[in-house]
Amino acid sequence: MSADRRKSRSRGAPRAGKVRVRTAKGRKLSSTRWLERQLNDPYVAAAKRLGYRSRAAFKLAEIDDKFHVLRRGGRVVDLGAAPGGWIQVALARVGPSGRVVGIDVQAMEPVAGATLLEGDFFADDAPARLRKALGGKADAVLSDMAAPSTGHAGTDHLRIMALAEAALAFALEVLAPDGAFVAKVLQGGSERSLLETLRREFARVAHFKPPSSRKDSAELYVVATGFQGAAAPRGPTDRE
Ligand SMILES: C[S@@+](CC[C@H](N)C(=O)[O-])C[C@H]1O[C@@H](n2cnc3c(N)ncnc32)[C@H](O)[C@@H]1O
Repeated sequence: MSADRRKSRSRGAPRAGKVRVRTAKGRKLSSTRWLERQLNDPYVAAAKRLGYRSRAAFKLAEIDDKFHVLRRGGRVVDLGAAPGGWIQVALARVGPSGRVVGIDVQAMEPVAGATLLEGDFFADDAPARLRKALGGKADAVLSDMAAPSTGHAGTDHLRIMALAEAALAFALEVLAPDGAFVAKVLQGGSERSLLETLRREFARVAHFKPPSSRKDSAELYVVATGFQGAAAPRGPTDRE
């Protein structure tokens, strides 16, 4: 083996297609492919090594490295938090004086230091539950919410945009001035109405595909920073 190859292996450089999984009786081809991809995915291995609950943890770390959405001592809401990779990254970055609150329809194992709520974000009482757990204005509202793919691109797009729009409506209510908003969207970017609201309410808006997001996935994230603060109440002259 050449020195160069030895060097790259010792750095843990990922090698594609290392593990091959045979199709087994009773296992669907799609499950076999999923298993093969998991076994060969360097982020899955790194997540396991570092004790992250999901490979998704790296996406938030990469978003934060670039856009600095998680402040030390800050309050963070994580929508669609299960199994908890983003929660772990958020906790580490806000530190012990910060507060991290997550919600998911799926039950989550507790994460020390975070408040995890079980429930549908669209439930009537969800915003109030989240606000109570936060105990004040949020510095970041994150949404990695995603519904299972229908396999129909148009339907998936509509569903994910509905989640992002609901997350933004909540963010506009709870964010503190200069706060940040991150939401998963699909390639092709955000819808015009969502982008217009973001550009009006935040100083900076960008789309970002974290390096750890799978190349064959259409997902990317819209990242808005510098929340301008709740709109001033309309005076009588505004209505004229
Ligand atoms: C991609 S996973 C999130 C992974 C997470 N960021 C992590 O790091 O572990 C998307 C999550 O969104 C959740 N979700 C989808 N729709 C939701 C809703 N209406 N309310 C709450 N959670 C929702 C799903 O249950 C799923 O756990």
